[in-house]
Amino acid sequence: MLFRAQRDYDASSIPLYCSQVKVESQIVVRPARNVCGAVQLPGDKSISHRYAMLAGIAEGDSRLENYSTGADCASTLACMRALGVTWQKNSDGAIEIQGRGFCLSPPSQPLDCGNSGSTMRMLSGIVAGQKFSSEMIGDESLSRRPMQRVITPLTMMGARIASQEGKPPLCITGSALKAIDYQMPVASAQVKSCLLFAGLYAEGETRVEEPLPTRDHTEVALRAFGVQLESKAIGGGREVRIRRGQRLRGIDARIPGDLSSAAFFLCAAALFPASRLTVPNLLMNPSRARLLDILMQMGLRISVTQLAEIHGELVGSLEVEGGTLQGITISGSDSAAVIDELPVLAAVAPYSAKGIEIRDAKELRVKESDRIAAVAENLRRMGAQVEEREDGLKIPGAQTLHGAELDSFSDHRIAMAFAVAALRAQGETLIRGAESAAISYPAFFSTLEHIVGR
Ligand code: S3P
Repeated sequence: MLFRAQRDYDASSIPLYCSQVKVESQIVVRPARNVCGAVQLPGDKSISHRYAMLAGIAEGDSRLENYSTGADCASTLACMRALGVTWQKNSDGAIEIQGRGFCLSPPSQPLDCGNSGSTMRMLSGIVAGQKFSSEMIGDESLSRRPMQRVITPLTMMGARIASQEGKPPLCITGSALKAIDYQMPVASAQVKSCLLFAGLYAEGETRVEEPLPTRDHTEVALRAFGVQLESKAIGGGREVRIRRGQRLRGIDARIPGDLSSAAFFLCAAALFPASRLTVPNLLMNPSRARLLDILMQMGLRISVTQLAEIHGELVGSLEVEGGTLQGITISGSDSAAVIDELPVLAAVAPYSAKGIEIRDAKELRVKESDRIAAVAENLRRMGAQVEEREDGLKIPGAQTLHGAELDSFSDHRIAMAFAVAALRAQGETLIRGAESAAISYPAFFSTLEHIVGR
């Protein structure tokens, strides 16, 4: 066995989306020689959240195939149910959602967003437009994360929001919203999405301007549900305009494979020249696919076939061949475009020829963990040299790492990033808190085990 779980671990049976429950597990990863095979990824997390929310406020039914299997997207579905939206998981695994239109029902309990910042930030835009109050809560990690970035603009639109000095829990009293013209101080797709959702309820035209382009799944999804909006480049970023009074119609969709989950396997493949990997039905949205350019610059050979568009989202199949891992500097808009993939890129950096420098990525400090500190700590435990900076990391290349006892810091992407780093270390690596992977990808460790050659 490549991996040994300390205790039996079946993520699908652990209700991680409930902020009260935590079952710890650890995993041991042994070195590998290559990564070969095919991986089918569960549906993209970002798109799953958005489709579940929009399907809930649409008219008519939606059917979502390949919905994300992660606990975060289960949190979104649970919150929608608490707001009166009915849905079922079919025997074929598809989620069927009966849209209620814009008016939801007052929840009888707090809306439990679990570990999911996307759920809390994006859904706050919808509950702000309701005629009732909602309390939104989260787990320990989410309760430390900044919410002022949605509180400020939603308050300008007319919502009343109480918080713990800008952090959860949030008590949102909805009202008749009015449109705003808002320049976002931080490039955040979650904040943009929150305001576009609130814009569906607000009198007038809401304009949101982002300083750098962020993922555009909300714009694409809104159009798929029948909403008209305008979006164009402005300065170094983008502006989006939306008007209320537009009806959403349910959709029938197959959600493309999650590119941020694929990143772990792609980086694992990049560690070994003998790797050969196939990834069918993968999300290729240009606002997310910068990772593929970066990996190709770093020496991974990637070819894309069977490109298609589904509800405005680009999907393709990847054929990947390992090479010799080169170094790279990632900064500016690239850092924003691959913000979720930076931990795994940093975790493989010591094995690259010339190392990796990451700049302009201060947002990493306010994710599920402080990802800059978490990556630096784990790499040091493996014997790596690392320079930690306020907005990034500088990691020299050509280093030899040894197996060590690591921590996930209760962060799914840290748990998975270091399972990848462990594949080229000398000796075994133990990862505590491995269950965190289930936040986005419950089957991660078993899938990795299938494609790793030793
Ligand atoms: C997400 C946006 C990003 C990303 C998060 C998912 C989204 O967060 O880190 O995992 O689905 O919109 P920010 O919007 O805070 O940058």
